[in-house]
Amino acid sequence: MLVKKAIYPGSFDPLTLGHLDIIQRASSLVDHLVVAVMHNPEKSGFLPPATRAALILESCQDLGITNLSVLVDSGLLVDLAKNNDTSLIIKGLRNASDLEMETAMAQANSALLPGLETLFLTASGQAHGISSSLVRQIYAFAGNIKPFVPPRVAAYLHTLQIQTQPKT
Ligand code: PNS
Repeated sequence: MLVKKAIYPGSFDPLTLGHLDIIQRASSLVDHLVVAVMHNPEKSGFLPPATRAALILESCQDLGITNLSVLVDSGLLVDLAKNNDTSLIIKGLRNASDLEMETAMAQANSALLPGLETLFLTASGQAHGISSSLVRQIYAFAGNIKPFVPPRVAAYLHTLQIQTQPKT
């Protein structure tokens, strides 16, 4: 059976060029890709989930990716998969520690919802070292985040930085 729809879940806090690369490649594998901004209880939030979702949508529109929808969900991934009538999750893998963590999540998800498959796409060359936490750290020290995030995200964070700078 061919899979028509898949979910690419994550925190996307914020979207990086690595995420965008996975979205672009995943969207070419299925008819419709659902990018789901979800809650990771192990991470404290930086941007509001709705802002993360808007930045994903705008960045994808900039690249002309049209076969996708972006949503925010605070529940379990397996429930989202059931509600969206799909049995395919797509995740990106950057390195061995991603593999270990993502394998555990994939196994837990398939135990909760038998038949749910997780497909891993490996990060492409330039995206190997990029992570949202790295971007947040560089941003916190007012460093240049442009090499790591889509232009929309860089512009949004730049504006945020100006707005939150103490007035002298
Ligand atoms: O980008 P992240 O933080 O690595 O993504 C992890 C995420 C958000 C996909 C994961 O924490 C998740 O699926 N959260 C939803 C709640 C859930 O289903 N947890 C069980 C996963 S085994």
